[in-house]
Amino acid sequence: MILVTGSAGFIGSNFVLDWLAQSDEAVVNLDKLTYAGNLENLATLKGDPRHIFVQGDIGDASVVGKLLAQHKPRAVVNFAAESHVDRSIHGPGEFIQTNIVGTFNLLEAVRAYWSGLAAEEKSNFRFLHVSTDEVYGSLKKDDPAFSETNRYEPNSPYSASKAASDHLVRAYHHTYGLPVLTTNCSNNYGPYHFPEKLIPLMIVNALAGKPLPVYGDGQQIRDWLYVKDHCSAIRAVLAQGRLGEVYNIGGWNEKANLDIVHTVCALLDELRPRSDGKSYREQITFVTDRPGHDRRYAIDARKIERELGWKPAETFDTGIRKTVRWYLDNQDWVQHVQSGDYRNWVEKNYAGRAR
Ligand code: NAD
Ligand code: TYD
Repeated sequence: MILVTGSAGFIGSNFVLDWLAQSDEAVVNLDKLTYAGNLENLATLKGDPRHIFVQGDIGDASVVGKLLAQHKPRAVVNFAAESHVDRSIHGPGEFIQTNIVGTFNLLEAVRAYWSGLAAEEKSNFRFLHVSTDEVYGSLKKDDPAFSETNRYEPNSPYSASKAASDHLVRAYHHTYGLPVLTTNCSNNYGPYHFPEKLIPLMIVNALAGKPLPVYGDGQQIRDWLYVKDHCSAIRAVLAQGRLGEVYNIGGWNEKANLDIVHTVCALLDELRPRSDGKSYREQITFVTDRPGHDRRYAIDARKIERELGWKPAETFDTGIRKTVRWYLDNQDWVQHVQSGDYRNWVEKNYAGRAR
């Protein structure tokens, strides 16, 4: 079996659902259930003996140690993190705690477990750390896309904390020989994406008749990957990745934020037209920019394609259409995640931004 952390969140839950759809290898799921963790994402696994959910913190070495001793996983996949840049600007403390201290404690517990394994299990064991392209900083318009050897230049408390965790993972390989793999992926989108992030926020606000808040001039560029393609890449790295290596994952889909918002509006105009016949574009509102906003991210995904034969299955057009449809078909999920906490966040992040 494998131990997956943070898998009540967006990418982790997609990973576990896809894993168990393709394999009978059981998953122990360790998640703290922060505001971003939601067991509804895993509702279809209810009663499935291949999925064991444990509520707990990756930073709690005794909980992790017990789980490892009890279930003896052959691999740990670490998704658990604080993941939202805007929240890291309002309150970086949790990011330091989970992303840096938490990853450190997790690595310590895993190292203790791995050291005690028999020779064959020890050499087959894997620790896969899921990270982000944001550790490489911001690209200028004509710079080449990020490769695995790009210098780390994180600019937000979020990316700095992820960069620190990547360095710890690297050091545990270099110093202790822990069999690690690191993936740095571009922006994901798809089902179960919490509506604090750009794409789900725009869908949810559009349908609710609310403003669509575009930061600054909306010309910042992100490189979008459908979440299930990220999950297939992680499976490929886990199965065949070379130990100690880093793999950048991306879909060659650079888009300006404003273009993304226009695409979402066009799809909603087609699939769920406004009752007044106008376009959802009417709801676009330019608001004050994010402090320190990175201008452009882009992933050079040639290494994972060359070494592991991985390629995304979705284009942006097919992935975004599936995503918009998913939100239209899962309005109950949307309503449930918009709890009091969510409303407090929206108030905190957007109240001061009106221009
Ligand atoms: P998310 O915020 O949706 O989910 C994070 C999950 O981790 C939640 O279920 C939360 O409850 C859990 N968690 C938080 N702190 C924890 C702790 N201390 N112990 C145990 N569980 C904890 O995030 P996501 O978008 O699914 O991202 C998952 C991972 O992928 C993160 O490491 C993130 O940095 C990385 N990543 C995300 C993207 C993206 O576009 N979303 C892109 C590249 C990499
Ligand atoms: P986000 O989804 O928060 O991901 P990240 O900051 O990790 O890339 O934001 C994606 C882009 O969308 C980013 O450039 C910021 C921008 N953005 C807006 O313009 N308005 C919003 O309300 C949000 C949440 C993001």
